[in-house]
Amino acid sequence: NVRLHSLKRTLVPGSSEHEDAAVIDQEIQRLDRIVRDVLHFARPAEPRPVTITAGSLFSRVRDLLDSQLEKASIRLSLASSPPLRIRVDPQQIEQVLINLIQNAAESIGRDGTITLRARSTLMPLAGHATPVVILEVIDTGKGIPLKVQERLFDPFFTTKEAGTGLGLSIAARIVEKHGGALQYQTEVDRGTTFGIVLPRVEKNEDEVSTENFTH
Ligand SMILES: Nc1ncnc2c1ncn2[C@@H]1O[C@H](COP(=O)(O)OP(=O)(O)O)[C@@H](O)[C@H]1O
Ligand SMILES: [Mg+2]
Repeated sequence: NVRLHSLKRTLVPGSSEHEDAAVIDQEIQRLDRIVRDVLHFARPAEPRPVTITAGSLFSRVRDLLDSQLEKASIRLSLASSPPLRIRVDPQQIEQVLINLIQNAAESIGRDGTITLRARSTLMPLAGHATPVVILEVIDTGKGIPLKVQERLFDPFFTTKEAGTGLGLSIAARIVEKHGGALQYQTEVDRGTTFGIVLPRVEKNEDEVSTENFTH
């Protein structure tokens, strides 16, 4: 890809060769994404959980995606949330958030808002009311028609020309590996909210410091 970029520099902007190089560049990126998704789908890693707050995950993801979304006039806003603790593999749950935000952005297209919010509630998990944290990705996109909802989590199901249809399958599997669940609510023409439901870590349950986890 470095070579392609130096080739592009030697070509006259606006020439058909320059355009060809740009298409090749885009196609490489598309294939790169497919390969990455397929590999992750085929060989999901075992989660390596640490205790962190929902807010710290949100800030990292925002730092990662903010400038890209800004180009499409999409605002990524962090709803103020209490410091809720969860025990997760940060890289994996970040991957889930990225997949959900990517879908949200693709549904919006241009001009809209994606809100990240964490809230806590009780949910019947494994047969009894369990305190959970829900990490929500709220979009002002097109919503999901019923026909699409029926196949939403099917691997390779996509409505996009360049989609892999693996984003939600991978997301759901990662969340299930964490003992949680992926849920959604949607309304056509209004938007969609995806929720990552995770068991909540109580205050004294785990005193592991996570100040120094790194990628
Ligand atoms: N936030 C959303 N708003 C509208 N449609 C969505 C949203 N998230 C997912 N979808 C629909 O679900 C399909 C599958 O999503 P996904 O598994 O991530 O695959 P891909 O993004 O490659 O199409 C998408 O093609 C799209 O039609
Ligand atoms: Mg996707």
